[in-house]
Amino acid sequence: MCGIVAYIGKQEAFPIILKGLKRLEYRGYDSSGIAVVNNDSLNVFKKQGKVAMLEEFVTDKDTSGCIGIGHTRWATHGLPTDANAHPHSSGNEKFALVHNGIIENYAIIKENLINKGHTFLSETDTEVLMHLIEEISTQHDCDLFTAVRLALNEVIGAYAIVVINKENDQELIAARKSSPLVVGIGKGEYFCASDATPIIEFTKNVVYLEDGEIAKLSLKDGLKLKTIKNETKTPFIQKLEMELETLEKGGYDHFMLKEIFEQPKSVQDCMRGRLVLNENKVSLGGILNYKEQIVNAKRIIVIACGTSWHAGLVGEYLFEELARVPVEVEYASEFRYRNPIIYPDDVVIAISQSGETADTLAAIELAKSKGATIVGVCNVVGSSISRATDCGSYTHAGPEIGVASTKAFTAQVTVLTLMAMMIGREKGTISDERFTRLMIDLDNIPHKIESVLKTDAQIQKIADIYKDSPNALFLGRGINFPVALEGALKLKEISYIHAEGYPAAEMKHGPIALIDEEMPTFVVATKDGSYEKVVSNIQEVKARKGKVIAIVTKGDKVVKGIADHVIEIPKTDDMLVPLIATIPMQLLSYHIAVMRNCNVDQPRNLAKSVTVE
Ligand code: AGP
Ligand code: GLU
Repeated sequence: MCGIVAYIGKQEAFPIILKGLKRLEYRGYDSSGIAVVNNDSLNVFKKQGKVAMLEEFVTDKDTSGCIGIGHTRWATHGLPTDANAHPHSSGNEKFALVHNGIIENYAIIKENLINKGHTFLSETDTEVLMHLIEEISTQHDCDLFTAVRLALNEVIGAYAIVVINKENDQELIAARKSSPLVVGIGKGEYFCASDATPIIEFTKNVVYLEDGEIAKLSLKDGLKLKTIKNETKTPFIQKLEMELETLEKGGYDHFMLKEIFEQPKSVQDCMRGRLVLNENKVSLGGILNYKEQIVNAKRIIVIACGTSWHAGLVGEYLFEELARVPVEVEYASEFRYRNPIIYPDDVVIAISQSGETADTLAAIELAKSKGATIVGVCNVVGSSISRATDCGSYTHAGPEIGVASTKAFTAQVTVLTLMAMMIGREKGTISDERFTRLMIDLDNIPHKIESVLKTDAQIQKIADIYKDSPNALFLGRGINFPVALEGALKLKEISYIHAEGYPAAEMKHGPIALIDEEMPTFVVATKDGSYEKVVSNIQEVKARKGKVIAIVTKGDKVVKGIADHVIEIPKTDDMLVPLIATIPMQLLSYHIAVMRNCNVDQPRNLAKSVTVE
């Protein structure tokens, strides 16, 4: 969820905000905009596309004013268009607002506001929040600080927002919940931004807003901080120590590491509004219009490339186990040239982080020409693939900058899990008890990923032991076989060590010839139906002096007594293990690549999106 920059003080706001938005461009976005207040008028400038296009758009316009808000949008609700770009204005054109995040209950709020006479210019959830604030301000005849606070008590979801009022150019209102927002305190001026990069050149004194906090930045009254429950808070002013370059990565050394550590949040965001615990149901609005075709599918064909193909393989186990529907997982590049047999009642699921992969797009067109229903699982709203499909569910993982896919993979698997649960529930192929247990276990996944991330130091030590291995083997059985494939891909694509993923049982059909003391074998050996067999595979490797690094269920003693190293992960439903077991493999590959001085975020020969054949 992208970028916010706001300013109030003595200087011209527009150039400061524009420069700040450019500092946030690294986060990936699809449109941008700035609103300024000047002499009681509210002037809004916004464009789809790069910040440079916004800059060009305003060359002949009056952008003067000493208070303003700016935004780079990562679309979640509504295509990237000029109208959907932020800032969004109130109906009375008195207020303007920028927002990072997702307002889950925007549809019901929008319906109520329409019934009260509000009209909307965009498809976004953000504009609904702006109109809600306007409605409350009018109904209660209250100041903007109060109106924003009251409105946020009615909102479910994630937000970082800044709001301005054309009738009061002395204050900015800012608030956050689940999306970051930093306040910079200068001499007679204030800044707001999604991170400190747009602020650091002006001041190093910052306040990181906490979830549920709302701030009034007033040139007259100074910084006032409250909770949305109206409790007064004392701002904790910190001094920025980090340099700009480090700040861009949120304090991490690389985008890949930042994105690995974002996974508790990105999986949470992916499930937001979809895993409805209090109603014990899965809600996937994006595929509702094709629910019948999807639930009654005689066959599901998954088409994807690379990591997305691995997510599709996990999906095969999920759909066949939970929804009892046959699944074929195809490399898009093979599928498109094989003259495949496709039936009109086939459902084709196209998985793509970028939504621009040429092979996947071509495979979609082929399947469409044969009359199949096409479901998209994409991370970029409005991408070519998302627009080529009949329906779909966005992964909402936020921009993934590192070429090696990490948080997009776990978000893709989360969406596929939700889809399999929804279909299984509809078809009655999942018992009520199992469905409820899956709901609870899935809801706990972000917390469990958090706990695995805490083993990073141990994983770093293991990486140091094996960083010079010329080859590596990754093994897994069942739903964890794709996890082994993904682990191998991660290692090879960023550390350039040759690595292969294999079903553990396949060892005796060839790969065991590779085993010697130089060959590390990474095994997913969690306590599931095939545990005993995987233990035997580990013993086979050890019998040939191979080194074994095993990912085990917390508390495992058997594997601990055999393997050279074990990495413990918390217990969860067998179907959800890939969401957690993949984390140690991501960290392992990352640390080995760093120790080998590889370019982790932009590995040699690779592109983030393969838009050519
Ligand atoms: C994975 O780490 C790679 N970056 C690559 O395999 C990627 O998954 C593949 O190119 C597919 O990209 P997409 O998900 O954007 O379609
Ligand atoms: N959900 C809002 C939209 O789609 C904000 C997206 C963002 O965080 O940039 O416009």
